[in-house]
Amino acid sequence: MSLKDAAIAVRQNAYAPYSNFKVGAAIRSDTGQVYVGCNVENVAYPEGTCAEAGAIAAMIAAGERVLSAVYVIADSPTPVTPCGGCRQKLAEFGAGDVPVTMATTGGVEQKTTIGQLLPGAFATDHMAGS
Ligand code: THU
Repeated sequence: MSLKDAAIAVRQNAYAPYSNFKVGAAIRSDTGQVYVGCNVENVAYPEGTCAEAGAIAAMIAAGERVLSAVYVIADSPTPVTPCGGCRQKLAEFGAGDVPVTMATTGGVEQKTTIGQLLPGAFATDHMAGS
């Protein structure tokens, strides 16, 4: 299954009764395996989790560590962009040149990279000497 089809399918399972904004994310690891996630909201709003976070958690739970591609989709007027926290989460497991496709359910796609989404990312280099 393509990343796009995987993201479209998992989006159906999103639990978003508060925002009514369902998001699906699919990621490919460096072994070629696909992992999916959807947003899971909570009545205590800050406890909700993003689709990207769910997909990353699935990859880590499966024993993998390295991202090679990301696809995110929502029913938004313009392609949905990962939030700031998810950009940092993606950067933890994916190099700057890893492609990220942001999409609308209407068929519009915008391509970027993890590096472009989070320029100047905080990384282990910043802790050198600590
Ligand atoms: N959301 C995601 O799951 N991923 C994104 O990239 C953007 C936002 C979710 C969080 C929340 O459940 C809803 O979309 C509205 O912010």
